[in-house]
Amino acid sequence: MADIIKADGAVEQAIALLMAGAVVAIPTETVYGLAADATNGDAVLRIFEAKGRPRFNPLIAHVSSMEMADKLADFDPLSRALADKFWPGPLTMVLPLAKNSPLHPLVTAGLDTVALRSPRGFGGELIAALGRPLAAPSANSSGRVSGTSAQAVADDLGDRIPMVVDGGPTPVGVESTIIKVEDAQVLLLRPGGLPAEDIEAVIDRPLVRKHGGQIIAPGMLASHYAPDAQVRLNATSVLPDEALLAFGPHRADGAARAAGVLNLSESGDLREASRNLFAYLQRLDRIGAKAIAVEPVPTMGLGEAINDRLARAAAPRWPAVSIS
Ligand code: TXA
Ligand code: MG
Repeated sequence: MADIIKADGAVEQAIALLMAGAVVAIPTETVYGLAADATNGDAVLRIFEAKGRPRFNPLIAHVSSMEMADKLADFDPLSRALADKFWPGPLTMVLPLAKNSPLHPLVTAGLDTVALRSPRGFGGELIAALGRPLAAPSANSSGRVSGTSAQAVADDLGDRIPMVVDGGPTPVGVESTIIKVEDAQVLLLRPGGLPAEDIEAVIDRPLVRKHGGQIIAPGMLASHYAPDAQVRLNATSVLPDEALLAFGPHRADGAARAAGVLNLSESGDLREASRNLFAYLQRLDRIGAKAIAVEPVPTMGLGEAINDRLARAAAPRWPAVSIS
């Protein structure tokens, strides 16, 4: 079983494990990550094994400085400006892989692009101290909701990894926003913890939404973030044997007979709702209700990422694997 170690003072222990090629779960501002030395193929392979993740699905390489980022990828001027503005933070950029990049090819699943992010908090400190990039997907078994607390990670992956660094609940709660600059366009590959509007204010043009269509981020398959219970969206009433995931001050009809009710944000605050999303899906799932009815959540700001994750949680579970 994984040791759960408080983040204060955990850097040295984490470095010892990472240098030995082990996988360590670490907090970032978005969700917990399952981290390994991105230059060590055996270590990166252990990430895929621990998650049960298909090897064709590439990982994000996490950095702690532009100096480190420049060794891994080629930045166009717009991507550089966005890195200056939003790093460290919940923004991931897909960029051309640098010619002599030290990343192991398993990180990029052999693609000629790499997804880069500079995380805030313990993750950033750890990478700076290690002096190497860390490959890290969200810390969850493939297809399950991402871990947003050390306990959630330990419950899901604790028997497969040696250590979970406990930095408390993650402040953002949904994964990073993923973009890619292509010609003069900026593609939104995954809505996430940095609202699209914040990026648009800097680039002075609308993001081009590519998710939902052709799969460009290989992890963006429909069924994903799946709890065991069925998930029913935009519910205005609660059906028998359903639990209710609420949002805002007004309740759906029949809420009083729900098998359980959790409110993402009583006051309708989307930041609070993002922070609570995954943990509340997991808690309602544990009640054993037949389905989770979800009240409507507005789509602006962080609401885009929340609705994206909810739609994936509600998507049909085809036998075709869900990944990431
Ligand atoms: O907030 C986050 O982004 C968290 C924390 C730990 O940093 N990480 C995370 O990683 O959510 P993961 O692996 O669960 O999701 C990363 C997504 C996957 O859908 C993957 O397919 C996509 O990024 N991706 C990685 N490399 C890519 C590339 N070169 N081109 C397109 N998509 C890529
Ligand atoms: Mg993930």
